[in-house]
Amino acid sequence: MFVLCTRPSGGGRQRWPRTPASLTLPPNPLTPPRWARHLRQRSHHRRELPFTRWQMRTSVPRNPHFAKLLGGYLFPEIARRRREYCERHPGADIVSLGIGDTTLPIPDSICYGLVRGAVLLGTENGYTGYGDGEGMRELRDKVAQVLYKGKISAEEVFVSDGAKCDIGRLQMMFGADVTVAVQDPSYPVYVDTAVMSGQTGTARTDTRQFDRIAYLRCDAANDFFPDLERAPRTDVIFFCSPNNPTGAAATRQQLQQLVAFAQQHGSLIVYDAAYAPFIRDPEMPRSIYEIDGARSCAIEVNSFSKYAGFTGVRLGWTVVPSEVLFADGTPVMKDFGRVMNTAFNGASNIAQRGGLACLEEDGLREIDTLVEYYMKNASMIRDTMQSQGFEVHGGIHSPYVWVRVPGQSSWDTFNEILDKCQVVTVPGSGFGPGGEEYIRLSAFAKENDCERAMQRISSAFRARVR
Ligand SMILES: Cc1ncc(COP(=O)(O)O)c(C=O)c1O
Repeated sequence: MFVLCTRPSGGGRQRWPRTPASLTLPPNPLTPPRWARHLRQRSHHRRELPFTRWQMRTSVPRNPHFAKLLGGYLFPEIARRRREYCERHPGADIVSLGIGDTTLPIPDSICYGLVRGAVLLGTENGYTGYGDGEGMRELRDKVAQVLYKGKISAEEVFVSDGAKCDIGRLQMMFGADVTVAVQDPSYPVYVDTAVMSGQTGTARTDTRQFDRIAYLRCDAANDFFPDLERAPRTDVIFFCSPNNPTGAAATRQQLQQLVAFAQQHGSLIVYDAAYAPFIRDPEMPRSIYEIDGARSCAIEVNSFSKYAGFTGVRLGWTVVPSEVLFADGTPVMKDFGRVMNTAFNGASNIAQRGGLACLEEDGLREIDTLVEYYMKNASMIRDTMQSQGFEVHGGIHSPYVWVRVPGQSSWDTFNEILDKCQVVTVPGSGFGPGGEEYIRLSAFAKENDCERAMQRISSAFRARVR
């Protein structure tokens, strides 16, 4: 709670009542403190007040980079339009294919791993307090062996509370002086953390793109893979595969090109593999380390969120191979280890026990079942949208289906589907200008909701011109 210790200054001629040395403000900052309420009742005083809001300001300057951020634009705007729709149509039965959050419960053996982690904490021998900032050795071993088949070592695995948090911590490590590239469209966290870290200028009002970020266009025309021959050199390249939002999964050949590009320019790839388990084809790379040369130029962020429904449990990891070096020869893993032990204190020991259960035979089988469930939804969404004449991408190695409606803005398509079908989607322009004309449909909904959404879209768009 905010404690008021000083009086507003510069208040003109009015005589302020005596105030106690410290006074607790009422919870609503717009409500004046009790000692000043009488001023509000006299309108001539109100005009003379030195400020319009009653919340006191500190003397701390705001980090100027935060002022550059664009408002939390996409999801609040979707929520606003949904709310307005419901106000206009009371009782509307909305189905959401917008959310990128998992909906199925955590499977049995994995849930048991979490429970066991909690129970151990209540025992004399099982209790653990702070752990290593890099994570439990047992879990790091298991990630290296089970998920990377020994291509990386346990020391190179940093267990964390999730991929998003690690992206933020990587940016803390990179600092303000690096240049970055992102795919356009892309997961907004890469851009926002670059802005917060001071790596960018301001955003252009027309494109909403920031100075000093290279936006690598990924659309149907280039198979959702950037044209690297025309891409500028940057220090860091954020690359996400399978991609949120386009649903594109990069082929081995494409990743070879990406690694070659990074090696040629001395760049560092931050490879976001949060959706890797959705790659069902064993020939497709699930990790950047399946590509020769990646160990010297790529960091991989990853997560149990979409593997096992851990979006609320919070568990992820980042791989920093010992061969990745900064320009002065310092191993990147040294600095990242420092960040993990300074700005983080290790992932929850309960969550890590859950992570261990994920990587046991039963857990892996359960994860496969979860992924199959969502991928069945994705096929249903793909097939329906295609049969209605939409141009459909993604949804094969990804839970996201990316639908193009040429000649129509993504917000117009969003509105049309909401109006005609009461189905919420995500307009692609929220992920960058490259997402204009597209909408994202998420397969993370319950099967029944996907079916209902697809039935409504089928009836509403039956007559759409092919
Ligand atoms: C591409 C991508 N990376 C990372 C995350 C966040 O992962 P976590 O839950 O591990 O923070 C998401 C979540 O939607 C995502 O889409």
